[in-house]
Amino acid sequence: MKNINIGVIGCGFMGRTHSNAFGKVSQFFDLPYRPVLKTICARNADRARAFATQWGYESAETDWRRLVASPEIDLIDIASPNDTHAEIAVAAAQAGKMVLCEKPLGRTPAESQAMVDAVESAGVANMVWYNYRRVPAVMLAKQLIDEGKLGKIFHYRSVFLQDWTISSDLPQGGEGLWRLDASVAGSGVTGDLLAHNIDTAMWLNGAMYEVTAMTETFIKSRKHNLTGKQEPVLIDDACAFLARFENGSLATFEASRYARGHKALYTLEINGENASIIWDLQDLHRLQYFDHRDEGRLRGWRSIHVTDGDQPYMKHWWVPGLQIGYEHTFIHQVADFLTGLGEHHNASPTFREAMRTDNVTAAVLQSAASRSWEKVAAC
Ligand SMILES: NC(=O)c1ccc[n+]([C@@H]2O[C@H](COP(=O)([O-])OP(=O)(O)OC[C@H]3O[C@@H](n4cnc5c(N)ncnc54)[C@H](O)[C@@H]3O)[C@@H](O)[C@H]2O)c1
Repeated sequence: MKNINIGVIGCGFMGRTHSNAFGKVSQFFDLPYRPVLKTICARNADRARAFATQWGYESAETDWRRLVASPEIDLIDIASPNDTHAEIAVAAAQAGKMVLCEKPLGRTPAESQAMVDAVESAGVANMVWYNYRRVPAVMLAKQLIDEGKLGKIFHYRSVFLQDWTISSDLPQGGEGLWRLDASVAGSGVTGDLLAHNIDTAMWLNGAMYEVTAMTETFIKSRKHNLTGKQEPVLIDDACAFLARFENGSLATFEASRYARGHKALYTLEINGENASIIWDLQDLHRLQYFDHRDEGRLRGWRSIHVTDGDQPYMKHWWVPGLQIGYEHTFIHQVADFLTGLGEHHNASPTFREAMRTDNVTAAVLQSAASRSWEKVAAC
C-alpha cells in the first residue's frame, strides 16, 4: 500500500468531514493507497495548528499557495468557500497535484470550465464531493434503476429544505455566513442545496435538457460581517424549478432556507412504470420501495433497512442490522477515489461530470431571471 500525502484547505464543516474520511478510510477498506494527513491549511495560524493537533495532521499552513507548491503534497483537497475553488484547483492541477474539490465546482460556468480544462490538460486525478451518492440506500436505488426494476421512469421529485436564514437579524458574510454573500457563494440555495439534488438526479436518471424556474430573496438586505454595513442580499433564498430529462421523464425540484421546522430535509422520489422509490436524508439508512409486480394481496411500500453485507458498502462496517450515518458517505467517497486510482480511472463525479450540475444551476438561475424555459448547456 502506497502513501498519498494529503493537504486539506479549510477547517470548517467540510474540513472536518474530509479529515475524518481520510483518517478512517484505511481502517475499514482494503485499498491500494493510504491517505496520510500531511498538512491542514487555514488562514488563521492558531486555528490551523489546533485543528492539526485535533485531527492528527503532521503540520499546519496558512497560505494555500505554499501548500500547492510543496513537493511533499500529492493531493490538494479544497474544503474552503466557493470563491476559492477555481483559483486553487487550477493552481493545484498546474502543479501536478491530484485535486479533490467541494461542490459546487465553480461559482459560474466559466470558473467550472477553467477547472475542468486545468485538471484535464494536466492529466491529474480529480473528483468533486457530491457525497450523497455514497449513502448506501441511494447507491441501492442506483442499482435498482440500472437493473431496470423501475421500468420506464415518469417522474423525479426532490426537495432540500432548511430554515436557518429566516431571521432578518442574521448577518451575511464571513465564517459560516459566506453562503449569504453572492460574491463568495455564487448563488444561494440553487448552488448550495439544489446542486446536490441535481447531481443525484442526473446520476440516477440521466441528463436534464431544459428547465423553468422561479427564485425569491425574501430578505433584501442584511448587515455584512466584513464591512459592518447593511448591504443588499443578492443570493436566492428559495428556488423551485421544473425540468425535463432526456429519458422523457418530468421533474420538480424545490429548495429553501425559509421552510420553518426543516433543518436538512433532502428527499427524492422516483416513479417508474413498475416500481417507485423514496429516500429521505433524515432516515438515510432506509429506502422505501414499492413494486407493482408483487402479489396483489401483499403489495405495499417496503421500508428496506440498508444495513446488510450484500447491500452497498455495508460489508465494510459492523454487523447486519447496525446502521451507519452521514460521515460515512465521505469515507465511501475516499474509498472509491483510491480504488479508482489503483485501477487508473477517476471516481465519479469528476470535475467534468460536476460541471454538468453547474450548467443546470446556471440554466435554473437564468430561467428565474428570464421567466422562460432555458436549455441546459452541453458539457
Ligand atoms: N458536500 C456537502 O455536503 C457540503 C456541505 C457543506 C459545505 N459544502 C461545500 O464545502 C465548502 C466549504 O463549506 P463549509 O461548510 O465547510 O464552510 P465553513 O465556513 O464551515 O468552512 C470554510 C473554511 O475555509 C476556510 N477558508 C476560507 N478561505 C480560505 C483560504 N483562502 N485559505 C484557507 N482556508 C480558507 C475558513 O476559514 C473555514 O475554515 C463550500 O464549497 C461548500 O459549498 C459541501
